Amino acid sequence: MTLTLAQTPPKTTNCDALLVAVRPKGRTVEVASRGLTAALTKAVTDATGALGATGKSGEVTKIGGLSGFNAQMIVAVGLGDPKAQDDLEAIRRAYGNAIRALGGLKKVAILADPQPAHLQATAMGAQLAAYSFTAFKSKTDPKSAPPASIVLLLSGPGTAAQKLAVAEVNIISSAVDLTRDLVNTPPNALPPIALAAAAKKAVTGLPVTVTIWDERALKRAGCGGILGVGQGSVNPPRLVKMVYAPRGAKAHLAIVGKGITFDTGGISIKPAKNMDEMKGDMAGAAAVISAVQAIAALGLKVKVTGWVPTAENMPSGTAQRPGDVITMHNGMTVEVLNTDAEGRLVLGDALALAAKEKPTLIIDVATLTGAQRVALGSRTAGVMSNDDAARAQVCAAAEAGGEAMWPMPLPDDLLATLDSATADIANIGDGFGGMLSAGVFLKQFIPDGQPWVHLDIAGPAFNDKAPYGYTPKGGTGAAVRTFVQVAKGLAAG
Ligand code: BES
Ligand code: ZN
Ligand code: ZN
Repeated sequence: MTLTLAQTPPKTTNCDALLVAVRPKGRTVEVASRGLTAALTKAVTDATGALGATGKSGEVTKIGGLSGFNAQMIVAVGLGDPKAQDDLEAIRRAYGNAIRALGGLKKVAILADPQPAHLQATAMGAQLAAYSFTAFKSKTDPKSAPPASIVLLLSGPGTAAQKLAVAEVNIISSAVDLTRDLVNTPPNALPPIALAAAAKKAVTGLPVTVTIWDERALKRAGCGGILGVGQGSVNPPRLVKMVYAPRGAKAHLAIVGKGITFDTGGISIKPAKNMDEMKGDMAGAAAVISAVQAIAALGLKVKVTGWVPTAENMPSGTAQRPGDVITMHNGMTVEVLNTDAEGRLVLGDALALAAKEKPTLIIDVATLTGAQRVALGSRTAGVMSNDDAARAQVCAAAEAGGEAMWPMPLPDDLLATLDSATADIANIGDGFGGMLSAGVFLKQFIPDGQPWVHLDIAGPAFNDKAPYGYTPKGGTGAAVRTFVQVAKGLAAG
C-alpha cells in the first residue's frame, strides 16, 4: 500500500474516514489539526467531547456521519499533552492506533500536521500500522483488512520537503514490512536457501550485488560456525553477501544479521512451549536484507555491505554435539558446550569476514539471547559495543528512528566465564549476564581498533502479545529503521 499527498479540502474529500487530531483541553478536547473552518472545528470538538473523549495519547473516537463533511466518518485521534507536541513517537503511535481501528475501510484521509517531521511521523505511524500477513490464509476477513489507501491532506501542493518525507516513509515502511513478512513466514517455507533467494529478490532492480556461499564455498572459507550449526539439517546453510557501493560514498557500513531459519536448540533441544516462535530467529537477517533494500532505494551516499549467515538448527544424526570443537573463519577454535547457543557461532564467522574489509562501522543484529528479554523486557533492544562513540551513535539513531534500544556494557571479566578446557573458547558462560557474555563472545571476532556494535533484539523482533501503536502481532521489523538512520548519519559525514 502506498500513501499519497493530496490537496483536496477536508470538507469535500470523499473517503470512508477522515482523521482529525485532538488534544486535551480542560475537561474536554480541542482540535489540533489545522485546515477546518471555525464551524467544522466546533462541530468536531462538540461531537468528540459529547462522546466522552479526553484527547489522551492513543485514544481513537469514531464519529459517524457528521454533517458538513463528505467523509463517511470522522475519527478523532488523541495526541495527548499539548506540551509533548514534538514527541514524534507519540504521533507515530497515535496514528498507528487509529489505522488499526479502521480495518475494512477502503480510503482513509488524514488532516495532517504539515510540518515535515510531524508529517513524516504521521505517515510512518499510519503506514506501519496498515500491515497484515495473510499469505498462508485460504480465506481472509475483509473487515479486518487494513485500508487500501491512505491520503494525507495538505492545504497546498506539497513542498519538496513534504514530498521527500512521504517518499522516504514509503521506502522505509515497505522495508519494515518485508522484515515482518520474512519473520512471519513459516519455517518450512523459509529454509536457508529460500532466505538467500529472498535477499536476492529484495534488491532486484537496485544497484546491489548479491553473492551466495553454498556449503562447498563455506568449507573453502573455513566457516566452521555456519557449517557446524547447519550440519544437523537436511536444509543446508548459506552465507549471503549484499553490496551497495554508490559513487562518492566516503563511509562503509557493514551490517550482519543472524539468520537461523528455525532454532530447535539442536541436540541441546528447547522445550516445546512456544518453540514455534523460533521461526523468528532470522529476524536479524531479515532486518539486514530489508535495510540494504531501503538504503539503496533511498540512494544514500554510503557503502553498505550486508552479511547474512543462515542455517537451520536441528537435532539429528548429523547434528553437532555438545562437546564438539569447531574452527571458525578467523582460526579460533570453539567448544560447543550448548548447541542452543548457535547464533554466536554463525555470527562469529560472518563478523570475522566483515571485519577483513575494515569498514567504518560494523553492526550485527540478532535474536541472540533469552537473557536480553530478562534484562530489558520484550520491547527494548540491548546495544553493546567495543567503542563508546559508536554505541552512542547507534542509540541516537534508534531514538531518531523510533526504536527502543538501550546501552549495555561488555565487561571484560565475563571473558573468563567462556573459558574452555579443550578449545580457545566455549560458546556459553556461567548463566549470569547471558546477554553480555554472548556479546563478549562476539567481540572475540572483531580485530582491535575496528568499531563494532552488537544489537540483541530477542524481545523486540517478535510481538507475541496484542498489537499496540503501529506494531502488529508477530514480526515487528525491529532494527530496520535504526539501520537507515545510521546510514543517513554516515552519508551526511
Ligand atoms: N534464539 C535463541 C534466543 C531467543 C530466545 C530469541 C527467546 C528469542 C526469544 C538463542 O539461540 C538461544 O537459544 N540462546 C540461549 C543461549 C544459552 C544456551 C546460552 C538462551 O538464551 O537461552
Ligand atoms: Zn538457540
Ligand atoms: Zn537462536
